[in-house]
Amino acid sequence: MGNKYRKLASLHGDAVSKCTLPIVVWCLVGCVLIIHFYTSIFYGDGEEGDIPVRLNSHLLTRDLEKIEEESFFIQPPRVKRSPRAIKRKPKPKRHLSIIEEFLDENSQFRHLFFPDRRMAVGPMNNTDNDELNFYPGRIWLDTNGEPIQAHGGGILYVDRFKTYYWYGENKDGPTYHAHQRASARVDVIGISCYSSKDLWTWKNEGIVLAVEQTNMTHDLYKLNVLERPKVIYNDKTEKYIMWMHIDDANYTKASVGIAISETPVGPFEYLYSKQPHGFDSRDMTIFKDDSGIAYVIYSSEGNSELHVGPLTDDYLDVTHEMRRILVGHRREAPALFKYQGTYYMITSGCSGWAPNEALAHAAESIMGPWETIGNPCTGGNRIFRHTTFFAQSTYVLPLPGIPGSFIFMADRWNPADLRDSRYVWLPLTVGGAADEPLEYSFRFPLWSRVSIYWHRKWKLPNAVSFNR
Ligand code: DGJ
Repeated sequence: MGNKYRKLASLHGDAVSKCTLPIVVWCLVGCVLIIHFYTSIFYGDGEEGDIPVRLNSHLLTRDLEKIEEESFFIQPPRVKRSPRAIKRKPKPKRHLSIIEEFLDENSQFRHLFFPDRRMAVGPMNNTDNDELNFYPGRIWLDTNGEPIQAHGGGILYVDRFKTYYWYGENKDGPTYHAHQRASARVDVIGISCYSSKDLWTWKNEGIVLAVEQTNMTHDLYKLNVLERPKVIYNDKTEKYIMWMHIDDANYTKASVGIAISETPVGPFEYLYSKQPHGFDSRDMTIFKDDSGIAYVIYSSEGNSELHVGPLTDDYLDVTHEMRRILVGHRREAPALFKYQGTYYMITSGCSGWAPNEALAHAAESIMGPWETIGNPCTGGNRIFRHTTFFAQSTYVLPLPGIPGSFIFMADRWNPADLRDSRYVWLPLTVGGAADEPLEYSFRFPLWSRVSIYWHRKWKLPNAVSFNR
């Protein structure tokens, strides 16, 4: 009997232990899954080490992410507008009167958009102890006290020299219209380069790619168009490579141009132009990925879509691979950046020199598909947000030492006097606070919010780590 009970008891004990083990295992698996689920909800799907970084960096950029309101009241148009302002009616026609005011060189509100020279900022004009403060829209002076001429530009950081190089269009000439229906232009002068250690104090390094004054068949001939230069470094060939938009005065050549240099400050040797992949190419940018593969992104098919494709290993040409993205969206002025493995891009609409609404896009692969996630402009006021703060995207620069934080670089074009176009640099964060809901589609992951914060005056946080 004792044996029988012992047998039963041991049978029972075996059964219990056989049942308990899977239960314990499944409980553990369940706990791990629950913890993972909550972690990914609260912190996102970061790479190793990203969770504390994003939380800390949010604290570091808290001031930049404050919503700063702007208000201005513009009365109905007064007397007659200048004939040029009437002709330049921008599309779409929302907020027409205010954009008309913006485009009217005789507007009584001109100073709101283009503050005069007395308000200029820069190292030589540092009367109000305003050192290192960015004032979007004000004249920005270099270390010689001259207005910076680097429009439609981009920035390259060169680790070897611990220096930032800002390349852009030098538009320091008279603005005119080649014919009655042509848009405002300045003859080609060349590409300027400025250097800085702190992103605020800029030294003029001169014209690194110069105009061709006499040879009318040359791409850089003064009566052509040379826009949106961007420079990247090729680690294999150890050369600095510049890509730019090359066009004729009527924007029918629609090509990219490529130039090469031994040093970041030039001189760049102009190589050639081409229509990439055999397509028309107007506003463009290039992007060097962490892998070292670089890409060109350009508006094509009459600006109705963007094309993206990898460059050859030497960055001097495109390969045969190309994808059409944002087809039918009519976007230009692409500015691309990457955060935590996701690609982001800010683009503008197509309205010549007149400002319009920016959109942010995101993609898991740079080759697409790209999803539009909405207007990133935050703060200011409705009109500011619908006009990208009266500016147009050109580049997005990662802030050193603060992952997820960037500088959004844009041009506030002044079509009445293009040399007096201004720079609008503002903090851009991925995943920060936002004052407008995010648009998304269930076919795609929920993208992080991209926000560009309006500030009249702002400064880089102390945590930005400059290697000087
Ligand atoms: C908009 C583009 O983004 C600028 O680079 C310039 O090409 C103007 N159009 C010319 O109207």
